[in-house]
Amino acid sequence: MTHQDRIMQAQASVNKMAASMKCRFRQNYHFMAPAYWINDPNGCIYYNGKYHLYYQHHPYSAQWGCAHWGHAVSKDLVHWEHLPIALAPSEPYDDHPEGGVFSGSTLQKEDILYAFYTGTTNYGQGFVQTQCMAESHDGGLTFSKSPHNPLISVPPVGFSSDFRDPCVLEHSGHYYMVLGSSLGGGAWHGGDACALLYRSDDLTNWTYQGIFARSKGEYGTMWECLDLFQLDGKWVMTFSPMFGGQRKAVYWVGEMDFETPRFIKETEGELDWGMEWYAPQTLHDALGNTFQFAWQNAWDWMPWWKDFGPTGPQENWCGCMALPRKLSLNSRNQIISEPAPALQQLRSHPLTFSATCLSNNKQEIPVFDPISFELKLTVDLTRTSAKTLRLALRADEQRQTLVVLDLANQLLTFDRTNSDEYCQGQKSCRLLLQGPALVLHLFSDVCSIEIFTDNGLTCMSDLIYPTQPQQSIYLCADQGDAFVQVETWKMEGIW
Ligand code: FRU
Repeated sequence: MTHQDRIMQAQASVNKMAASMKCRFRQNYHFMAPAYWINDPNGCIYYNGKYHLYYQHHPYSAQWGCAHWGHAVSKDLVHWEHLPIALAPSEPYDDHPEGGVFSGSTLQKEDILYAFYTGTTNYGQGFVQTQCMAESHDGGLTFSKSPHNPLISVPPVGFSSDFRDPCVLEHSGHYYMVLGSSLGGGAWHGGDACALLYRSDDLTNWTYQGIFARSKGEYGTMWECLDLFQLDGKWVMTFSPMFGGQRKAVYWVGEMDFETPRFIKETEGELDWGMEWYAPQTLHDALGNTFQFAWQNAWDWMPWWKDFGPTGPQENWCGCMALPRKLSLNSRNQIISEPAPALQQLRSHPLTFSATCLSNNKQEIPVFDPISFELKLTVDLTRTSAKTLRLALRADEQRQTLVVLDLANQLLTFDRTNSDEYCQGQKSCRLLLQGPALVLHLFSDVCSIEIFTDNGLTCMSDLIYPTQPQQSIYLCADQGDAFVQVETWKMEGIW
C-alpha cells in the first residue's frame, strides 16, 4: 500500500470510531484525537497564520502501537480543527506494528514544510531507529517521504539503538538536528543519556558534530523528545528522561556552542512536577511568543500495563495534550510557565470570594461548574498563621483529591490516593513562597488537574478519574487561620 492508502485506511478507522465514542471521561477543553490513542506533541509550528499541532497517534486502538502523526490546527491555541492524519508508516524503514513514524519536528523553508521523524522498524534483529524526512507543498496537510530516507541510518559508533526524536532548527546559516541517544549500556541498562548534534546545509545530508550534553545517571539513561530553542536571549534545552526517577520533563538554560559542540548550562529545573506531563515541545509565533505543548499522560497509564485503564479499551480513546503554556525567563534565568493567555476566552460565570478559613473548619468554595473550571486562590501570607492549607477537589462523603499547601515546610503536594477507584499516588515539590502572597492557579477538566504556582516557577499536572458525582470543593486550614481570596470561572468546552 502507498503512503496515501495507509493514511486513508487509518483515517477511516478513526472516523468510524469517532462517530460512536463513549464519553465518560472525554475532556471538555483539552485537545484530544477524535478517537483512539495519542502521545507526544510533534512538529508544533506557527505556519501560515495558524498553530499546527501534529501528534503521535495510534489510529486503530486506544493503546500505543504503530505510530502515525495526527494533525490539527488552531487560530487561537484554544479551539482546534482536526485535519487528516499527516504521516503513516508505509516504508520498510518506518513500518512495524511496534514501531512506525515516531516523534519529531517540522521546519518551514520558503513555502515548503519539512517534517523530520524517527522511522522505527524491526527487520528481525531488534528495533532499528533511523532519521527520516517528508515534505509538504500544501501547507502541512499532505506529506511525501523523501527518496533519500533514511537520512541518518545508524547512530554514531558506541551509541545504543535508542536514537530518536529529531528536533531540527536553523541557526547561523546552517541546519542542526538534535537527537537523543544513550552511551554505555543503553536506555534499558543504565547507560548515560546523551544529546547528539548533526549539521546540514541542505536538510538531506547530515554530518555528526558530537555530544553536546550528557547525563551521568542523574538525568536518566536516555533523553526522549529533546527540544532546543532560544528564549529571552538564552538557549534552552528540554527533555523527558527515561529512568529519570521523579523527573518527567527537565529544562536547562544557558548558552549553546554549536562548534564544540557543548551546552553550557547555567540553570536547570523541572518544567512540571506532576505524574502526568511528558515530552514537551515548543513553537514560536510571529509575535515572538514561545508556547509549549506536552502530552498530559505518562507511559504507566498505557492500557497494556493496567488492564483496567479508565480510558483505553473501555472508552476507545486514551491521552490528551496539556494546556498550552507561554514560556519566559525570569531574572535568574529560570523558566516561567503560564497558561496561554488565550485560554481566558473560555471563562464564564465568574465568582469571587474572600474568607478567613478558621483552623480545622471546612470552607466551601463556590464554583459554577465543579468539574470544568479555573480557580485562582490567593493566600495572604502576611496574615496567615495556618501551617497547612488543604484544597479538596471533586469531594463527596467518601472521596476527594487533595492539593496541600504545606506553608510551614514549603511543600506543595498533590494527593490522589483517595480520588477515585483507579488512581494512586501523591507527589510533592518545593514551594518557594516568595512575596507577601501565594497564588495557586488551577485548571480542572473531566480527568485532569493542572496547577501553576510560585509565580510560574512550579507546575504540577496529574490525572484523576472520579466516577461518582463528586461535586464539592472546599478549603481547610490546619493549626492556624488562613486569609484567602478565591476567583473561579466555569471553563466552556472547545469541542
Ligand atoms: C516519548 C516517545 C518518543 C517516541 C514516541 C513513540 O513519549 O517514547 O521517544 O518517539 O514516544 O510514540
